[in-house]
Amino acid sequence: MSHTSKASAPKGRLGILTPGMGAVSTTFIAGCIAINKGLAKPIGSLTQMGHITTPDGKRQKISDVVPLQSFENIAFGGWDVHTDNVYEAAVNAKVLDRYMIEQLKPELEVIKPMTAVFDNSYVKNLQGTNVKPEKNKMVLAEALMEDIRRFKEEHNCDRLVMIWCGSTEKYIEESDVHRSLENFEQGLKDNAVDIPPSMIYTYAAVKMGIPYANGAPNLSGDVPAILELAEKTQTPLAGKDFKTGQTFMKTVLAPGLKSRHLGIEGWFSTNILGNRDGEVLDAPENFKTKEVSKLGVLEQILEPELHPDLYGDLYHKVRINYYPPRGDAKEGWDNIDIRGWMDYPMQIKVDFLCRDSILAAPLVLDLAIFLDLAKRAGESGIQRWLSYYLKSPQTLPGEKPEHDLFKQHDNLDAKLLSIAGL
Ligand SMILES: NC(=O)c1ccc[n+]([C@@H]2O[C@H](COP(=O)([O-])OP(=O)(O)OC[C@H]3O[C@@H](n4cnc5c(N)ncnc54)[C@H](O)[C@@H]3O)[C@@H](O)[C@H]2O)c1
Repeated sequence: MSHTSKASAPKGRLGILTPGMGAVSTTFIAGCIAINKGLAKPIGSLTQMGHITTPDGKRQKISDVVPLQSFENIAFGGWDVHTDNVYEAAVNAKVLDRYMIEQLKPELEVIKPMTAVFDNSYVKNLQGTNVKPEKNKMVLAEALMEDIRRFKEEHNCDRLVMIWCGSTEKYIEESDVHRSLENFEQGLKDNAVDIPPSMIYTYAAVKMGIPYANGAPNLSGDVPAILELAEKTQTPLAGKDFKTGQTFMKTVLAPGLKSRHLGIEGWFSTNILGNRDGEVLDAPENFKTKEVSKLGVLEQILEPELHPDLYGDLYHKVRINYYPPRGDAKEGWDNIDIRGWMDYPMQIKVDFLCRDSILAAPLVLDLAIFLDLAKRAGESGIQRWLSYYLKSPQTLPGEKPEHDLFKQHDNLDAKLLSIAGL
């Protein structure tokens, strides 16, 4: 790198902490270890495989343009309500084949989840015993900060990032307790019901200046109080909800249809999945959180207010069905009713036989590596360039999120070039 990057060089070890060590987290960790051992390739990861066009017109590896944490020097940790170590949790998740997991057993079985901050009233279909006994939310936040300090020391980490890979909590709307840091800290002390466990993790991370991304649709860091704290502690944030299967496809297809000015009358999306995520989302109050996240994308991309003839009456429906036989191998169907020249109707059917956690794992890695870069570049608050990875990109009030995958990718590249000083 001959140019002057805004980001300092990554020295030493990066610790990646995931609250929630289920299917996504264990697939991510096992994958990283397998790649380090030469047993797999980092397919789906921009930080490991991506290229970028520099102003001189050359295509260069992203890692040659900005100073990224080396993949070999990462420590993994996290929390879960279950005591299973990462080897056991990966076996239970049934995402990776047993032969692969056995080859990684020595590295995986030493990663044991720390005791979680959890309250079953926010995730009805989940029970666990590995839960901190303290009842006061501020005391719990301090206990998490203590866990983080201990992890950093024991694993000799120079820097940390936190990526929420825990379950989707019940739907919560922003309220007074979230509107300022003062209200929020008082709310923690008073055990406010509108502060779910995910927000306690977010607070702990951001208070310590640790970059935080939210892989679920929970409100989490998407409230003014956490943004205020992030400015104070110079912490980059990204959220919400990994953009992996059906929504990823939607944000690829919709911009294409729109660019041709084809009309869309209806978009019906349904899924079957049988992993624990699916079980949690079977509870209506948890599905509501996901539904809000999934429904937002089309309107922003299609701009019906500018194109009432094409998208004014679009009927958009999203369903998720828990169907245990499928496990992590989700199937997502889309039926798209489109209209062409002289209003003639046509249909597009998409049947995506995907693997949820295989799609999500590289996103965890990229968010962690890019957030660490952002921190070293002196960035704080919402990292809009990371919207590329997220279904409900976080924005400031009154600001519209960008959902179009191609525009998101351009924004990401532009930010990398700016960090690179190019
Ligand atoms: N896989 C995907 O494609 C995808 C896409 C978008 C979002 N997500 C979200 O990512 C999250 C993880 O998905 P998954 O498939 O790994 O689910 P999972 O159910 O396999 O894992 C979630 C883990 O989080 C733990 N957990 C829940 N609350 C916790 C808490 N308060 N503290 C610590 N641990 C807690 C659970 O015990 C479980 O082990 C979910 O919220 C899911 O909606 C996944």
